[in-house]
Amino acid sequence: TLIPTILCGGAGSRLWPVSREQHPKPFIRLSDGQSLLQKAFLRGFELPGTSEVLTVTNRDLFFKTEDEFREVNTKKLPTSFVLEPFGRNTAAAVASAALQIQRRHGDDAVMLVLAADHLIADQQAFAMAVTKAVELADTGKLVTFGIRPDAPETGYGYIEADGNQVIRFVEKPSLEAAQNYLATGRFLWNSGMFCFSAGALIAEMKKHCPTVLQAVERCIDASRLAVGKGFIQLELEADSFVDVPDISIDYAVMEKSSNVAVVPCDIGWSDIGSWAALGGIGATDAVGNCVEGDAVLHDVSNCYIKSEDRLIGAVGIDNLVIIDTPDALLVANKDRAQDVKQIYAGLKAQG
Ligand code: GDD
Ligand code: MG
Repeated sequence: TLIPTILCGGAGSRLWPVSREQHPKPFIRLSDGQSLLQKAFLRGFELPGTSEVLTVTNRDLFFKTEDEFREVNTKKLPTSFVLEPFGRNTAAAVASAALQIQRRHGDDAVMLVLAADHLIADQQAFAMAVTKAVELADTGKLVTFGIRPDAPETGYGYIEADGNQVIRFVEKPSLEAAQNYLATGRFLWNSGMFCFSAGALIAEMKKHCPTVLQAVERCIDASRLAVGKGFIQLELEADSFVDVPDISIDYAVMEKSSNVAVVPCDIGWSDIGSWAALGGIGATDAVGNCVEGDAVLHDVSNCYIKSEDRLIGAVGIDNLVIIDTPDALLVANKDRAQDVKQIYAGLKAQG
């Protein structure tokens, strides 16, 4: 059994104003009409051997998520859910999924953890990488997917690799360390996807973050489990979920475990960190503009312009991101696209 496990949480504050608390980044639709979340679903759905897709997400997003899946779930594959009252980071999300899967399918069931907000251009290469990952997971390894780095990004995990062997895993290094890693040529970026058997993950959590595992176990015992025809829904209970330490799987397990493997892969991966990344995906004209919606341009170059329902006119500009929605307009320099999260933070502080 292979169970794609989609993690859908996090506000995606760098994609304001389209990404909001009630409309987070995974629900953003791309120019082909599909949302990032639907793409994540299809990524798992299309793999041979997939028997169900499990999603861990906030309970407020449950119906919205089900609707998204229904649109693309042409084979009526069973979908199951672990619903969180609030985010407690990825260690908790993965642990609750793993405990569910272990209970229902046993220790050897293999999970493929997928992020809800990534793009993978080459599904065929991805499927091959997963085949290799499952092979390694069947031997008890916690498998990461390594991406060849092309910049000293500090928002990623770095994996020092020798073939499939992992020498060390460093989550979100300093800029200086990232530059050094890049220079050695031995490091890969962690894609944020993982493959392991439920039993292997739980065993490593027992070793490296027992407090997370125990708190999640206690929470599951106190929670509501609904089992119906073809679906399972675990709704995590808030009073005990609040006791789960807020830590990512990368810090809690991957950095500490000596049982990690990597599958280096070239799959056209992108984690859509910012509007600049999104603008780089769509079709661009001869002078580097990517336009979604209605716009009239004169002497405009290298801009990403997206309008939801108004006409945008632009003259004599270069390297800008312009995102118009019914109630908010973003204008930003492309090189500063990462800092859009400051607007989100500012709004949140204002209430
Ligand atoms: N259900 C749930 N609950 N999902 C969550 C939560 C949570 O509390 N927190 C995060 N997620 C989801 C996000 O929606 C995303 O799909 C995925 O888990 C990863 O979380 P991020 O918050 O985006 O992690 P990151 O980008 O800082 O770092 C991770 O991804 C990088 C690649 O994109 C790490 O794995 C890095 O090592 C990696 O390089
Ligand atoms: Mg991310």
